[in-house]
Amino acid sequence: MLVAITYALCTILVVFYASARLRMYRRNPKGLRYPPGPRPHFLLGNIRDLPTGGHEWIALEEMSKKYNSDVIHFQVVSSHVVVLNSLQVASDLLDKKSMIYSDRPRLPYAKELIGWSWSMVVMCYHEGFSAHRRIVQQSFQPSVVTSLHRPVMQSEVDKLLKNLLASPDDFADHLRSMAGAIVMMITYGYQVAPKDDPYVRLSEDVHNSGDRRMPVAHVVDLFPILRYAPARLFEFKRRALAARKLVYKMRNAPFQMVKERLAAGTALPSMATSLLEKGVVADGIESEALIKNCTAIIYGAGVDTTSAALTNFFLAMIMYPEVQERAQRELDAVVGKDRLPEFGDRPRLPYLACIIKEVLRWRATSALGIPHCTTTDDVYRGMFIPKGTTVIANLSAMLHDESVYPEPEVFNPDRFARGAGGSEGAPDPARVAFGFGRRICPGRFFADDVVWLAVVNILHIFKLEKKIGSDRRVLEPDVKWSSGPVSVPSSFGCKITLRLAGGESLIPSLE
Ligand code: HEM
Repeated sequence: MLVAITYALCTILVVFYASARLRMYRRNPKGLRYPPGPRPHFLLGNIRDLPTGGHEWIALEEMSKKYNSDVIHFQVVSSHVVVLNSLQVASDLLDKKSMIYSDRPRLPYAKELIGWSWSMVVMCYHEGFSAHRRIVQQSFQPSVVTSLHRPVMQSEVDKLLKNLLASPDDFADHLRSMAGAIVMMITYGYQVAPKDDPYVRLSEDVHNSGDRRMPVAHVVDLFPILRYAPARLFEFKRRALAARKLVYKMRNAPFQMVKERLAAGTALPSMATSLLEKGVVADGIESEALIKNCTAIIYGAGVDTTSAALTNFFLAMIMYPEVQERAQRELDAVVGKDRLPEFGDRPRLPYLACIIKEVLRWRATSALGIPHCTTTDDVYRGMFIPKGTTVIANLSAMLHDESVYPEPEVFNPDRFARGAGGSEGAPDPARVAFGFGRRICPGRFFADDVVWLAVVNILHIFKLEKKIGSDRRVLEPDVKWSSGPVSVPSSFGCKITLRLAGGESLIPSLE
């Protein structure tokens, strides 16, 4: 019996290996060289060379230096992963060849197991991507953000200030709540409850049920057959099935609520109501499914990212008090001490503009972006990149490129200032931080406005400092960033006090 099982296993392995090799050969019959990278091992290729264990973008940047190439290649079983570590290569491939570099990989774990296949963030072209992209892009174009979204941002930033005053230790939660409240209002016309809101709880449950790993690093992505593994034997499958139920509910429940309110005549104007009234039809996709998909993805794509960027801002301010003081001097000179800053002040606050750029650069909000995938074979600088290759843009490495941003670990907004001699300053990191080509973040104008408004208002009212421990020593923040699509900072302490005497009277909801 044992011999028969061993024999069967060996046969499976040999067939598996032979078919994998054959597939590799068929793809690259001329034997063109792949980009440099670690030598693949027998059978599993470079699985063990793919960095794991956190801050993978740093390990990938180091590998890029080791192989002296800004493009590095991994063979994972029979598929290919390419990591792009410079803006030059990302621009050459993801922007200039966006025709063939804009698909998404199969991602069996996220899409087939958890059920994210309706999300345009991970959608392939043949899954109706263009129709979804068009709707989301139109709903977040600059003119819509300015006219429809800014008033919502304004009122939620006022609430944020009030919450920071009331319970400063919960600052990171307040930032998430603010981002969530803005998104729920603009997508569904829904005003979230100050505490225990059912829809926010649902979205947070989805967020917490996720597996935060480097894209394509889940065992099911490496061996898709494992998605059929029995749930009673495998913990990952049980977790995935639980997450799947939540993801399904998150897509449907708020949309259903809007439909009921529309029928009752109580719906507030929103992205959902406007699309339902227009009745979108595209590429044969059922209208309701399209609207449901496009609205439901905004929370997932917009809340973590915006709040992570703002939490990074808090960290920068407590670590670089001189930057904070200079920004506050600028605010005092331009806005004065009798009112809060507003969008109209923006052109007259150049140092704050540099701070926002440096926040996006200093700690990439999405360090490895969302993986792209090639739709045809390509040859780049003589290197072969086959059809179906997963392409990861190491955004963190690009934003920390010493030749573009000297001393990249230092938070230095001045790097973006126009020099006295007429120099332009360092390139705008938004060029990298929001991704590339046809997949560039459609929420970038919205995110830029929310981050700006929150930052200037917080700095106008509050002073942010490191916390002092019970032994009266300064508590140095020790922060790690999560893997996965959004690089969320771990928690750290921040002392938040009023900067201006009577500053609380400036917050409208307290008047
Ligand atoms: C600081 C805030 C944000 C950052 C740094 C950010 C960054 C990114 C990045 C790097 C990508 C992947 C681009 C690529 O594949 O090349 C992306 C995609 C996306 N983002 Fe954002 N994002 C932010 C905020 C938002 C907001 C507020 C929304 C919603 C309004 C949003 C919606 C999306 C969507 C829907 C995609 C998928 C696009 C596609 O696959 O075509 N993002 N974002």
